[in-house]
Amino acid sequence: MYSCSLKRFPSFFNSSRKRNYCREVPESILNVLKNSAVGDEVNIKGWVKSLRKQKENVFIDLNDGSTGQKLQVIIPQNLFPKNVSPGASISASGLLKSSPKGQIELNANEIKIYGECVIADGYPFSPKKWYAPEYIRQYLHLRPRINRFASLMRTRSTATFVIHEYLQSEGYINVHTPILTSNDCEGAGEIFRVIPESKDLLKSMVKEGESIDEAFFNTKTFLTVSGQLHLEAAAHGLNKVYSFGPTFRAENSRSRLHLAEFYMLEAEVAFLEDMQKLLSVIENLLKNVTKLMLDRCENDINSCQEEKPDFNWLNKNFPILTYDESVNILKDNQPVFSEGYKPEEGISKEHELFLVKHCGNVPVFIINWPKNIKPFYMRECQDDRTKVQAVDLLVPGIGEIVGGSLRETDCEKIRDSLTHNNSQLDWYFDLRKYGGVPTGGYGLGFERYLLFITGLKNIKDVIPFPRWPHNCNM
Ligand code: 4AD
Ligand code: MG
Repeated sequence: MYSCSLKRFPSFFNSSRKRNYCREVPESILNVLKNSAVGDEVNIKGWVKSLRKQKENVFIDLNDGSTGQKLQVIIPQNLFPKNVSPGASISASGLLKSSPKGQIELNANEIKIYGECVIADGYPFSPKKWYAPEYIRQYLHLRPRINRFASLMRTRSTATFVIHEYLQSEGYINVHTPILTSNDCEGAGEIFRVIPESKDLLKSMVKEGESIDEAFFNTKTFLTVSGQLHLEAAAHGLNKVYSFGPTFRAENSRSRLHLAEFYMLEAEVAFLEDMQKLLSVIENLLKNVTKLMLDRCENDINSCQEEKPDFNWLNKNFPILTYDESVNILKDNQPVFSEGYKPEEGISKEHELFLVKHCGNVPVFIINWPKNIKPFYMRECQDDRTKVQAVDLLVPGIGEIVGGSLRETDCEKIRDSLTHNNSQLDWYFDLRKYGGVPTGGYGLGFERYLLFITGLKNIKDVIPFPRWPHNCNM
């Protein structure tokens, strides 16, 4: 098996030059810029970003998405196909040479056109023009061709990779928690129901006296709002586990921070009884993953938008406030807010952002939350039964980015807090009944994390195909 795959990819395994993992598409601009030398013959395929015609030659800025950098392609006028314009897809072949400034460029002797791109036909982007994110968002299907968005997509890809890399290096085991589930983990009723479209199928499956909506699974079924409960099952046996996948919330919010479908990184750690340890786990994740990101793709991070994001927080300890301390700060500053603090509503976005500023514009942990505004699974505080050992991490410009807690081990207390949608949780009690251990964990909103490190403002601009109320196009 192995020798066979080695033969199929000889350049990858045997090349004396250091190569990236691009085995199927041997030439990419990234590979050329990193690994090729003047005089190499190459063929590059990509999209024309801009072009300039001079007396004898045409100069093309070509990009293929492998990097934010463009490769300058020079071709004599007489070899330049007429219908090549910005946005067109082409293949360029020739020899690499060094520009007067020492940059690698391609002296092409042949350009083939794959697809023309005629702006007059309705292509919505002109070369070199700046477009607002809201404008670009109208063309989700064409957005990956926009340089800034391509940078974001590479940043997102690297972030996915380094999150796995960091957690695996810390001994966490990746668990694929289900997308279809019969529980509403957060108990807030923000769940999408899932039923088969075919009524004939449902009729053929329904048992007498039972609801046709539940015929397929014999239970109501939802898209997951969190994989936490399944992670808790996995942690009892595997110890340190995580999941990183799509998560769904049926909230009628069109805010710049909410999506109906987003990605959540969730981790659960067994034998974890101490809130301070949970906070360190979260702080270390955020700092280490971000350091890896700056190491791997700082250029792309900086290219996502005009302003350079600030990473001073990487060298600071994250302050910790209790919920009560936070409320006192808010009450002391009541006149600053458009809406004052109301106990039944908890801390609003405006309050979150204020608390972050108040603490020096660094990420802030808020711990020990009122039990009545948090989900059923959170562990009671020992010294105050109205509070739970929950944590939210608030960050500059965004507010809440992580939610987590220690988990309640007392089945009676859990039963008292359960809502209707979580009536079928016998298995959850078994975790405590048989070899139960204290666990704790958290969920990091992946898109909010991307907003935080890129400095972008709207969550719809950090996911390729955003879904939000009234918008599920494509
Ligand atoms: O605070 P949440 O609801 O926590 C949980 O779901 C826990 N079960 C996680 C755990 O302990 N395993 O969600 C976690 C994070 C939030 O802090 C936020 O960053 C993000 O998920 N999030 C959203 N992101 C985008 N759009 C939405 N509608 C979001 N709702 C939550
Ligand atoms: Mg939360």
